[in-house]
Amino acid sequence: MSKLQQLALFTLTAAAVSSAQAADLKIGMVLPLSGPFAAHGAQIENSARLYIKEHGDTVAGRKIVLIIKDDTGIAPTISKRQAQNLLIQDKVDLLAGFGMTPSAFAVAPLATETQTPMIVMNAATSSITTKSPYIVRTSMTLPQVTAPIATWALANGIKTVYSIAADYGPGHDAETQFKETFTQGGGKIIGASRTPVNNPDFAPFLQKAKDSKPDAVFLFVPAGEQGVAFVKGFRERGLDKAGIQLIATGDMTDENVLAAMGDPALGVITSFHYSEAHDSPENKAFVAAYTQAYPGDRPNFWTVGGYDGMHLIYEALKKTHGDTNGDAFMAAVKGMSWMSPRGPVSIDPATRDIIQNVYIRKVERVGDLLQNVEFDKVADVKDPGKK
Ligand code: PHB
Repeated sequence: MSKLQQLALFTLTAAAVSSAQAADLKIGMVLPLSGPFAAHGAQIENSARLYIKEHGDTVAGRKIVLIIKDDTGIAPTISKRQAQNLLIQDKVDLLAGFGMTPSAFAVAPLATETQTPMIVMNAATSSITTKSPYIVRTSMTLPQVTAPIATWALANGIKTVYSIAADYGPGHDAETQFKETFTQGGGKIIGASRTPVNNPDFAPFLQKAKDSKPDAVFLFVPAGEQGVAFVKGFRERGLDKAGIQLIATGDMTDENVLAAMGDPALGVITSFHYSEAHDSPENKAFVAAYTQAYPGDRPNFWTVGGYDGMHLIYEALKKTHGDTNGDAFMAAVKGMSWMSPRGPVSIDPATRDIIQNVYIRKVERVGDLLQNVEFDKVADVKDPGKK
C-alpha cells in the first residue's frame, strides 16, 4: 500500500469512527440564577448535576451536556431570549428548567415552533402544559397541591377562610382551587386579596384578614423571602393570638427558608408533594447524596423537580435510543411511572402533567432542624385544574 493509500484509508476509518459516535446530547436549561429566586434555580441545576453524577453522563450512546442560562426570575423577555440563544446558537436537543410561570409561558411557543421537548421542572400554573404539545412537567400544579389543604380545613373545623395569593398565574390557580373545593364542601370564603408579585408589603392584607375574623388564612406566595416576611407579619400583627390559623401550600415553608422563619413557623399546616422529611428509602438516599454533594444546602421541591426531570429525560432517551425528535420523545414520556424521592409518580398521558401523592404536613422541630412532617396524604392526585 502506498503512503497515499495508507493516508486515504486512515482518513476513511477516522471518518467512519467519528460518524458512528453520536453527537453530544445538549440540554439547554433556563433558570433563575440571579435575583430573588436564585437559590431555587441553583437547586435545580445542582440536582440535575447530581443525577448525572449518579447515573453516568452517557445515555443511549450520547453524552449528556448541560448548557445553563440565567433568566433572573420573573422576566419573560429574558427567558425567551435565552431559549432562543440555546436553540439557535447552541443547537440544544432539549429545553429544561423553567422556575417561574411567566418564563414557561414565554418559551412554550418556541417549543412548538421547533418541535423541541420542553421539560418544566418547577413552574406550576396549571395551564402551562396546554401551551405546547412538547411540554411535560415533573414538578406539580397549584390546583393539585391546593385542593387537599381545602379538604383538610373542612375536616378540621375551619368554616371561614380569608384567602391571600400572589397576583400571577400560580396565585390565581391556588385561590380559585381553594375557593372551589372549600365552598363545595360547605366552607365560606369571607375575603380574598391578591398581593403584588414583587416585594409585597403584606401589612395591609394581614390587617384586612385580621379584621374579617376568619377561622383561618389561606396563603400562596412563591417560595422564598415572601413566605418569611408573611409569617413574621402574621405573628407581629397578632393574627395567631386572635386564634386565626395559618394554612398554605408548601411553597411557603420550603426547606430553604425554614431556618430563616424560625420558631414562628412551628405548627403551620401545609399541603405539598415533597418534604425533605418524607420517610422512604428513596428519599433518605436522595437527601444523603444531595447534602453530601452540596453541604449546607437542603433539598426541597425544586431539587426534586430537577432530579425527576433528569430521570424522565434519561428514561425517555433509553426508550427512543437517543432520539430527541419531539414526537418520539413525547410518546416516550406519556404514561411513564417511577419511584421518586417524593413517592410514586407517573406522567398523565392526557395532560403531560405529573400524578403524585399530596401530603398534609406540620412544621415541627426534628433534631436541629425545622421540618415539614407529613401526617396525612391524598394518593395519586391528578391536576384538578384541567377542566
Ligand atoms: C411559578 O412561578 O410557577 C412558581 C414559583 C414558585 C413557586 C411555585 C410556583 O413556589
